[in-house]
Amino acid sequence: MSEPTGAARRRGPFQVGDQVQLTDPKGRHHTFTLEAGKSFHTHKGSFPHDELIGAPEGTVVRTTGNIAYLALRPLLPDYVLSMPRGAAVVYPKDAGQILSMADIFPGARVVEAGVGSGSLSCFLLRAVGDQGMLHSYERRADFAEIAAENVRRYFGGEHPAWQLTVGDLQDNLSDTDVDRVILDMLAPWECLEAVSKALVPGGMLCAYVATTTQLARTVEAIREHGTFNEPTAWETMVRTWHIEGLAVRPDHRMIGHTGFLLTARRLADGVEPPMRRRRPAKGAYGEDYAGWGGKDAAKVASRGAGKDAASDGERDAAPGSGGAA
Ligand SMILES: C[S@@+](CC[C@H](N)C(=O)[O-])C[C@H]1O[C@@H](n2cnc3c(N)ncnc32)[C@H](O)[C@@H]1O
Repeated sequence: MSEPTGAARRRGPFQVGDQVQLTDPKGRHHTFTLEAGKSFHTHKGSFPHDELIGAPEGTVVRTTGNIAYLALRPLLPDYVLSMPRGAAVVYPKDAGQILSMADIFPGARVVEAGVGSGSLSCFLLRAVGDQGMLHSYERRADFAEIAAENVRRYFGGEHPAWQLTVGDLQDNLSDTDVDRVILDMLAPWECLEAVSKALVPGGMLCAYVATTTQLARTVEAIREHGTFNEPTAWETMVRTWHIEGLAVRPDHRMIGHTGFLLTARRLADGVEPPMRRRRPAKGAYGEDYAGWGGKDAAKVASRGAGKDAASDGERDAAPGSGGAA
């Protein structure tokens, strides 16, 4: 049985063409591609690539200046943070959330826009596998080119499940029977009609946005569109820890903000979104609410608010907790 695309480059002794990540004594990373006959140079000397070719991962090499470097293949989270960038990448912590909460499964038919630098494309391709489909749309040809090169380098060649189209998603999306659509762009609300047409009933839309205003506008537009269930929105913060003897504490620095995620499921055709059992908070759609999603947003948002609604202050269930939406 042949191995899944890219798997052969993730294990075994180092081969020509592999990405190598060196860790220096200060914990800094240096990434390069292995080439026969070449040398890796630092300001503290060099060593020949040939020393690593055929050696196991986890080998320690020494430069002519006697500095030791640990050699490993970069993991995908390392790779996406060190690869050349066009646009900002989806961070590994958010890619993990997207794969789990948008339920990306082997064989899934997935659409993604925009592609940016191709970070999320790599994660999605690994998850859908060779039998799945990822159709990625990117409006900027220069970014698409950077992403294509990053994806090719990561998998060691073309991925059989990947198709990349240059153009706006809302004008070009022609795929049907799509299981999942992932939007990482400035204005996801502009794509809802196209996304709704592409998704199968029960399919999922997942959007990744950087600001609260984008988040609110996307949620209200999804409600107003009327072909999705009630969206769920969340963010993830990851705090790394310093552990040394008795000094066991969170690291002083962390990435405080990357983006917000939201998901919503496609309803069957012709179905009205179910009544919302929770009344919007007092004033949420009051006089001061100008509306993100258009003039009908307030009407749609308060649809079904009745006397059995939960109290205004009710807290949302955490994503994944299985609580009522
Ligand atoms: C933040 S970047 C995406 C990063 C990417 N997900 C990654 O992980 O590397 C946003 C990208 O969306 C593209 N974009 C914005 N609106 C779009 C649209 N309507 N259709 C296609 N691409 C779009 C932009 O050109 C930009 O490259």
